[in-house]
Amino acid sequence: MRCDRIWRDARLATLAPGGPGLGEVMGGLVASRDGRIIYAGPAADAPGLEADETISCDGRWITPGLIDCHTHLVFGGDRAGEFEQRLAGASYEAIARAGGGIVSTMAATRAASEDDLLAAALPRLDALIAEGVTTVEVKSGYGLSLADETKQLRVARALARRRDIDVATTFLGAHALPPEYGDDPDGYIDLVCAQMIPAVAAEGLADAVDAFCEGIGFTPAQVRRVFEAAKAHGLAVKLHAEQLSNLHGAALAAEFRALSADHLEYLDDGGVSALARAGSVATLLPGAFYFTRETQAPPIDQLRAQGVPIALATDCNPGTSPLTSPLLVMNMAATLFRLTVEECLAGVTRNAAMALGLAAEAGTLEAGKRCDLAIWDIERPAELVYRMGFNPLHRRVWRGR
Ligand code: NIG
Ligand code: FE
Repeated sequence: MRCDRIWRDARLATLAPGGPGLGEVMGGLVASRDGRIIYAGPAADAPGLEADETISCDGRWITPGLIDCHTHLVFGGDRAGEFEQRLAGASYEAIARAGGGIVSTMAATRAASEDDLLAAALPRLDALIAEGVTTVEVKSGYGLSLADETKQLRVARALARRRDIDVATTFLGAHALPPEYGDDPDGYIDLVCAQMIPAVAAEGLADAVDAFCEGIGFTPAQVRRVFEAAKAHGLAVKLHAEQLSNLHGAALAAEFRALSADHLEYLDDGGVSALARAGSVATLLPGAFYFTRETQAPPIDQLRAQGVPIALATDCNPGTSPLTSPLLVMNMAATLFRLTVEECLAGVTRNAAMALGLAAEAGTLEAGKRCDLAIWDIERPAELVYRMGFNPLHRRVWRGR
């Protein structure tokens, strides 16, 4: 069988579903053709392969390229000043209610040009790439007007033309109430549903629609309207749910067969069951948990018991998680939430792909999927979770290159 490239003499963590643990293969190889994996497994079982290029991995470990399935990577300004206010005792909610928070980033994002936003986002993207990320999700939600939300999404799409990475975009118009809507959240939701979602869908700017269901965000009734508009335009949905309180957002998301519900610290048993029935992914964001000094952890045991797939992501954003390290996310998920090494690695690969509706395309080392690989200078996969602030990436392969 002809192929473009072979990575041989490798140990593989295939993350293939069904198998025990990480789907570990000693003495493995991966072969690619036209950017796709055509074989990943034991070298001894490989079909006869004729490659243009063969690369020895000298026993290194190969995992699927990492997937960061929840980020707000494109935004203007920063919130270091608010960080100092929080160090002096102010709460995230109090700052938001006083006109800071998401709305302050909105002002900086509106003031920025597409070039400014691109220039600000690229170093953050490069930090993810440096740790082996090959697919990233990027949300809007800091424009909060038709022109500024579409501007943010165009920049998110542009990132994929500037770097070797797949970018999934998510429209998050219902992130916060822009000040010009004063005390008329329903009027703003009208705009989101009647103008923004149709425009975003018509221009192909978003792969999914998200919302912030929270006391300082939008009510379940408002989110329902957003989801109905998304579905009417053929867009998948996901939701920021149960981050600061329990408004039963996850159950609402499940009703709409959401790809994922995200955050989930205040998720209750009914919400867990709803996610399980819908096949939605629970995306946990330990960076936001850590940075806001949250004390209530998501219901990990119930998620496990009901078989809800768990994804992990950076939630990279200026307010609650200025984090660009998927390796640190895994360490935090293990340390703060007691996830196992297997759960952490599945969370940034296979289950993160599922949270983006990309399970058939990415997230495992299996024939037919995109040949996205992370090759690591480690002796055992647990090192990827165990260390803090150390990056053992040897090489990153995107689409077979
Ligand atoms: O995922 N929860 C809402 N959105 C972000 C925070 C955004 C911000 O504070 O700028 C989050 O935590
Ligand atoms: Fe978020």
